[in-house]
Amino acid sequence: MPARLLIEGGVPLRGTVAVSAAKNAALPALAAGLLTAEPLAFLNVPDLQDVRTMVRLLETLGARIQRDGVRVRVQVAHVVGDVAPYELVSTMRASVLVLGPLVARHGSARVALPGGCAIGPRPIDQHLKGLARLGAEIAIENGYIVARASRLKGAHIATDLVTVTGTENLMMAAALAQGTTVIENAAREPEVSDLARLLNAMGARIQGAGTARIEIEGVTELGTATHTIIPDRIEAGTLIVAGAITGGDVAVTGVVPDHITAVLAKLEECGVGLEVAPDRVRVRGPERPRPTDVTTSPYPGFPTDMQAQLMTLLGLADGQSRVTETIFENRFMQAAELVRMGARIETEGSTAIIRGVPFYQGAPVMASDLRASAALVLAGLAARGATEVSRVYHLDRGYERLEAKLRSLGAHIERRT
Ligand code: EPZ
Repeated sequence: MPARLLIEGGVPLRGTVAVSAAKNAALPALAAGLLTAEPLAFLNVPDLQDVRTMVRLLETLGARIQRDGVRVRVQVAHVVGDVAPYELVSTMRASVLVLGPLVARHGSARVALPGGCAIGPRPIDQHLKGLARLGAEIAIENGYIVARASRLKGAHIATDLVTVTGTENLMMAAALAQGTTVIENAAREPEVSDLARLLNAMGARIQGAGTARIEIEGVTELGTATHTIIPDRIEAGTLIVAGAITGGDVAVTGVVPDHITAVLAKLEECGVGLEVAPDRVRVRGPERPRPTDVTTSPYPGFPTDMQAQLMTLLGLADGQSRVTETIFENRFMQAAELVRMGARIETEGSTAIIRGVPFYQGAPVMASDLRASAALVLAGLAARGATEVSRVYHLDRGYERLEAKLRSLGAHIERRT
């Protein structure tokens, strides 16, 4: 029986809780280990299912990985293989992040083509188009991307749309290319900037990360580095909404508030009390949230990874809200489950209309993807009565010890297996 969470709702959360390092920064950082024969030392790697999958993948490619608590040491003295097998890629799309580093360092890569997932078809055409611009020969054989290049060559790449892992893959590939690469329309997410910070510490020459135009002057080899990964801004946002939706008083620490400006602004529109300090956010939940409208967009816009959590808060607002999802085609999976808890949500295409209700009722609900599962946990914390969230393996992919953190704030939540 897959694990499920039992939540007794209605308890205002109180206290202080620290965020972990960012999943979406840790995954590309670990993959960057493929770019050098020297060791990389990471001082704060979260213990997550997706991180374990990346570690397994890197070990099949020749990496030697040691973990000591949150510290992880990665060394790929020799790349012993170039295959990212379907069994791993199908469980975690971010496995595609080994593609750029493998072609750049090893000259070839065979990476299973990631299929679609619950939130959308999620093609990787921009990754492949960019690598082809850098001179790689690309073919699709038996469900695998086969990429080859004796040495990549710098090029001008303009992606057709903003892609986070696409930008990261191309940045890593270009770091070892001959000559200069420019990536236009690059993703500006903090995780992209954090990767550039790591690569530059390894000896790369990257400028402009965090802006829409990144310039990379290729080098012949990269070296060792020690790196502290940025905090998880999505986990921070999720914990802040947990405090708000339960009418609690919670301080979330170890946060970079600048990374969640759009989230904090939306929460203030909902009447959530916020005190922002350099490394923490104190949240005091309103009697009842105010309605508002939100549209997701690439950073620094409102993150799609916080859309489900905000929808859950707006489900209890005193009026009507509109949520527009512009990044993924199918990211309202939580809505039907929230309706099971008494919410009034109608979705049509990329828009959801939410007519707030005074309270949620506890109910058995099912998680469908990582952020939808977090939203259902939030709804359960606010609900009257008991909620059972099943398929929480989705949650374990991206939240480190979430129920222990919530319990430390007074939540009545336990895992059943
Ligand atoms: C990253 O995914 C994150 N994952 C996602 O977080 C996040 O939702 C997403 O960025 C957007 O912020 C990691 O960093 C590991 P994209 P990524 O390429 O890079 C389309 C979570 O919950 N597209 O920026 O895969 C794509 O289909 C996860 O932690 C193409 O069409 O997202 C989507 O509609 C979920 N062709 C849009 O662009 C491409 O080649 C943005 O995708 C690439 C993307």
